[in-house]
Amino acid sequence: MKKFVALFIALVMMLACVSALAEKVGVSMPTQDLQRWVQDGENMKKELEENGYEVMLTYAANNVATQVADIENMITNGCKVLVVASIDGGALGDVLAKAKENGILVIAYDRLLMGTDAVDYYATFDNYKVGEIQADFIIQKLELDADDGKTYRMEVFAGSPDDNNALFFYNGAMDALKPYIEAGKLVVPSGETEFQTCAILGWGTDDAQARMDNLLAKAYTDKTFPDLVLSPNDSLAMGIANSLEAAGCPLESFPVITGQDCDKANMKNIIAGKQSMSVFKDTRTLAAKVVEMVNAYLLEDEVPINDTETYDNGVKIVPSFLCDPVFADINNYTELLIDSGYYTLEDLGL
Ligand code: BGC
Repeated sequence: MKKFVALFIALVMMLACVSALAEKVGVSMPTQDLQRWVQDGENMKKELEENGYEVMLTYAANNVATQVADIENMITNGCKVLVVASIDGGALGDVLAKAKENGILVIAYDRLLMGTDAVDYYATFDNYKVGEIQADFIIQKLELDADDGKTYRMEVFAGSPDDNNALFFYNGAMDALKPYIEAGKLVVPSGETEFQTCAILGWGTDDAQARMDNLLAKAYTDKTFPDLVLSPNDSLAMGIANSLEAAGCPLESFPVITGQDCDKANMKNIIAGKQSMSVFKDTRTLAAKVVEMVNAYLLEDEVPINDTETYDNGVKIVPSFLCDPVFADINNYTELLIDSGYYTLEDLGL
């Protein structure tokens, strides 16, 4: 009898748990064009489902109106939590206000939601640190601290101005590189170093390629090439590499090119010597953190955060969890990406 009662209690507790967790979560991703967002979406769906949630996952083809419609749908369908990686962080105010009216928890995923009080939490990688890591890599690689009289030609790219992350990436890198520009160790032949001048709206590979073509035509008429190109992410790094290749830059003269996301195509470029590094933001880590946040909120536990100062969206400082980025290059990618099960050798064409 005792055994039966214990079993019964365990069953009731299990059922209570399941019914507490069987909530609907909406995950709105910006686009399927970039590998990272597809992985982010898939990882999150898998993790959330494993935790017993029903998941509505959408990709908005980089179209703001589509993302608004996706989120409206999630609200209508009774989602209790929304996880949003925005296309334009400042363009979702109205639909998020509606979510708030409906008592829905809103978590900004990777990109901050701007100008709204309807965002509750922000989960991301430390975006300023991403830029710092890129700058540190450049400083080490070109030995910029050596007193050897050498100077290097650099060009600067920045991300999409409608993405709050882009300025963090830029500042993280440029705060570290500016002293070398001021000291004349780094020279920028195009003269273009300001964020707005270097920014690529929409993060497009083709647009980055077109800007690099222009820079080469304008400032490298002697058929030489830059020694380094600061690129905030992989989609731009790909365009930059494509431009250099099309302009006939020999492999041995390829500049140091930075990146972010460790996209498969870019890892292949790293292996081929056409990109130098890529900041690795393990999408499994971020997805797992968001699931932890969702669980904590729905079970009325304390939601994990580790930053309450950095991310001001213009209306409030959004409590955030910042994961730690690292970088991959030719020397450590096997350990970081293959041994950890992130990619298979075939993924990288090996
Ligand atoms: C993300 C980067 C990504 C870029 C372009 C940024 O908000 O943090 O990882 O490369 O968007 O999609």
